[in-house]
Amino acid sequence: MLRSEELKKLRDLAIPQAVFQVSPCIIDHAKGATMVDVDGNEWIDFAGGIGVLNAGHCPETVVAAVKAQADKFLHACFHVSMYESYIRLADKMNRITPGTFAKKTFFANSGAEAVENGVKVAKKYTGRTALLCFQDAFHGRTLMGMSLTSKVMPYKSGYGPFAPEVYRVPFPYAYRMSGGDQKKANRMVLDEIKTAFKTLVDPQTIAAIVFEPVLGEGGFVTADADFFKALRELTQQHGILTVCDEIQSGFGRTGTLFASEQLGIDYDIILTAKSLASGMPLSGITGRAEIMDASQVGGLGGTYGGNPLACAAALATIDLFENGNLLQQAVETGRIVTERFKAFQKTYPVIGDVRSLGAMAAMELVLDHTTLEPATDKVKQLMAYCSSKRLSLISAGTYGNVIRILSPLGIERDKLEAGLAIMEAGLKSLGS
Ligand SMILES: Cc1ncc(COP(=O)(O)O)c(C=O)c1O
Repeated sequence: MLRSEELKKLRDLAIPQAVFQVSPCIIDHAKGATMVDVDGNEWIDFAGGIGVLNAGHCPETVVAAVKAQADKFLHACFHVSMYESYIRLADKMNRITPGTFAKKTFFANSGAEAVENGVKVAKKYTGRTALLCFQDAFHGRTLMGMSLTSKVMPYKSGYGPFAPEVYRVPFPYAYRMSGGDQKKANRMVLDEIKTAFKTLVDPQTIAAIVFEPVLGEGGFVTADADFFKALRELTQQHGILTVCDEIQSGFGRTGTLFASEQLGIDYDIILTAKSLASGMPLSGITGRAEIMDASQVGGLGGTYGGNPLACAAALATIDLFENGNLLQQAVETGRIVTERFKAFQKTYPVIGDVRSLGAMAAMELVLDHTTLEPATDKVKQLMAYCSSKRLSLISAGTYGNVIRILSPLGIERDKLEAGLAIMEAGLKSLGS
C-alpha cells in the first residue's frame, strides 16, 4: 500500500472530518513553490498553505534564523522573560505598517487571535461594545472571529450563540451588486450603512468597523480608494475605530507590503498573520499608540504569543521583503495570472469575472451571466481535476464558486505556466 493511502486511512480514524482538506496531498518536504508528497510525487503549490507562503516554502534565511533560535531557547513567555526578537519585531511592525503616527504592536499566535485582540483593544479604548462588519467577510473560527465571519456553512452552522452586538452590512461587491459599476456599489453600501445607523444600531455604541481591504475567503473582492475614504469619514463622524484585517492581503500579496497602501486605507488598528512569519504561527496587532495603551496591564497577551521561533522567522521574512524583490515578483506573478485568466474568460463562458490586486488574483465561475448563478459544482470539478494533476489550489467565495491564487510570490515562471496549463486543461474538461 502507498504511504499516502496508509496515512489517509489513519487520518480518517484519528482526525474529525470537520478538519477539512482541499487536496489529498500528504506533504513530505517543500521548497519554493514545489511540494513533494510522501510517495515522492511533486506538486505545484498555488495555495501557499492559504496565503502563508508568500516568500515561498522554506526560504533559506528564515529556516536558518529558526534553527539558530532553536539552539538558544524555544520558549520563555514574553510575560515572564522578555527577549530581543519580540521587541525588535514590534518596533519593525510599527515602522513597516502604513501611517506615520505613533504605533505599538503585540503578538498572538493566529489570525483569529489577532482579530479577538484587535476587538478587545478597540472596545477598551472606546468603552463601546458593538461592532460593524461586512457580508462575505472572514475573520476566523474563534467565537469573535466566527461572529464577525459571514458564511454560515461551514463556519457558523451549529456553533451559536455568537458574540452579541455584531452588525453586518453588505460589502460593495460590484460584480454581484451593480453589474460591475464600483461607484454605484460604493454608494449603495454607504447608504445602507447610514440607514443601519438609523434602523439597526446606534453608531455611538459601535467600537469599531472590522474589515478586510480585499475579501479573502469571500472571493478576492475589493472596493476602490474612494469607498474606503468615504467609509472612514462616515465612521469617524461617530467615533468608530477602523480595524483593518490584512491577515490574508498583507505581506506582499497585492504587490505592496499591505493592500491598505494602494487603497488609501486610514486605520486605527491593523491585523497581520499568515505570511508574516513564513509558516511559523504568529500574528500581530498593531495600532495607534494611545489606543494600544488603553488596556490595563495583564489584559493582553498569552503564553505563546510572539514565540521566539516565530519572531525570528518574521524578522527574517521581513528582511526578504525589504532587501529582496518579492514585491516586484508579486506584481509580475499577478500580471501573468490575470492575463491568463482574462484569456480563459474569452474561451470559457463559465468564467463570469476575473479580478486581482497584485498577486491576489481570482476568477468567479457562474452558470449564467445574467443571473450570476454560482457554478459551485464546476469549481469542485475543476479543483478535483487540478488535484489529480498535482496542482494544489483553493477555492473561495460565499458560494464556493471562486478560484483564488495564493502561490508563493516568486514562483518560477515554468512552474507558474505549468500550473496555469493544468487549470486550462481542467476548464476544458468541464465541457463549457
Ligand atoms: C482575513 C482573515 N482574517 C482572519 C483569518 C483567520 O486566521 P487563522 O486561520 O490564522 O486563525 C483568516 C484566515 O484565513 C483570514 O483570511
